[in-house]
Amino acid sequence: MDAETNKILGHLLDGSRKRRSVISIVGMGGLGKTTLAKRVVNEAKARFSLSVWIDVSQQYSAESLLRDFLRQVTKLKVKKLEQMTRTECEATVYQTLKAENYLIVMDDVWDKEVWTILSPHLPDAENGSRVLITTRYVDVPRAADPSTPLLELRLLSKEESWELLSKKAFPNVGKEIARKCGGLPLALVVLGGLLSTKGPSLGAWKRVAETLVWETSKDGRVCLDILALSYEDLPRRLKCCFLYFSSLPEDFEINVDKLIGLWVAEGFVEQRAGETLEETAEDYLEELVQRCMVIRVQDESGPIIEVSCRIHDLLHDLTVAEDKEVGFLVSQGIRDNEGVSQLDSSVRRLSLQGEKAWCWDSKSTPRLRTFLFYLFCQVDINRVFIMWHNNF
Ligand SMILES: Nc1ncnc2c1ncn2[C@@H]1O[C@H](COP(=O)(O)OP(=O)(O)O)[C@@H](O)[C@H]1O
Ligand SMILES: [Mg+2]
Repeated sequence: MDAETNKILGHLLDGSRKRRSVISIVGMGGLGKTTLAKRVVNEAKARFSLSVWIDVSQQYSAESLLRDFLRQVTKLKVKKLEQMTRTECEATVYQTLKAENYLIVMDDVWDKEVWTILSPHLPDAENGSRVLITTRYVDVPRAADPSTPLLELRLLSKEESWELLSKKAFPNVGKEIARKCGGLPLALVVLGGLLSTKGPSLGAWKRVAETLVWETSKDGRVCLDILALSYEDLPRRLKCCFLYFSSLPEDFEINVDKLIGLWVAEGFVEQRAGETLEETAEDYLEELVQRCMVIRVQDESGPIIEVSCRIHDLLHDLTVAEDKEVGFLVSQGIRDNEGVSQLDSSVRRLSLQGEKAWCWDSKSTPRLRTFLFYLFCQVDINRVFIMWHNNF
């Protein structure tokens, strides 16, 4: 409302306009006329010797308007006011205002009559007095003063609407959650993604806010907590799909079809009526993307649009840690001449990444069912397979 406030203040406080003048705020009910008028009065009233606010509304009587007015500007008791005739009231209003430089607000004026009733008793000492009218109808201010500047309030833009709605939705818990992300965009988007699956439920947001331990924000732990929370919130099937990212090298972009093929082969994808497994898996991926846990990458530079995806390296760390904990998958990056490090006999899924082909004693891993390898060099793929067969 800053622009509107300044415009009205400009008029109210314009020292070159000595004559009493009127300014109006016009717009439908609920548009913010009263709010704006209050704000303006707060800022301007110190510059007037007297300020009066009259709630006019649809049902009013001349007497009640005048008495309301006098109640605010004189020390007359209610009883005394009630005994006064309309003519006496009118005269008292005039007398009281005569020597003043006043600001009068007539809020929510529905018809032109109000002005006809009051204006003859509002003296003009040419000392910069002002009347501010708020109304739904343009003809009210036109009748009051055809030269009166009108401020027609506008509706909020899409962005402003969203800002206001989200402020109102969960004012405290929402702000608290945002603050505790420590200004880190990754934490904000992941947490936002998580909250978007909760719908606008205050209870759910509160639970999220309470789950996080905030004290440790300095070392980025909060971020990890937030990421872990988002992971914990995933449905079981999505957890498996997400953990599978640990099998990829860090910052690796995997082709979406390839990834989906792997999920399906692993049996992570449930069979839904009328859908292929791949279609269902595509939904899973979409949900992870929506939760901002997976980033979709589209490369349109070549003749075929290449769609792949990856996860943030902090999330990758999370998957690796979680894998270790639950024994879901063992992922090893192998440097130069190092070999495969000691493998636990319970390993079911193994992913190796490096620049060489590797060997290990397959008897040490009798439960192995999945073997993924990422070779960062040109090798003879047949040789790798022969090694693989010989190994078992
Ligand atoms: N720009 C704004 N920003 C935030 N809230 C607003 C804004 N304008 C109006 N409101 C809110 O909308 C409601 C209606 O405003 P109000 O001033 O009473 O409208 P009007 O007087 O035009 O009928 C109030 O609760 C007010 O706080
Ligand atoms: Mg109003």
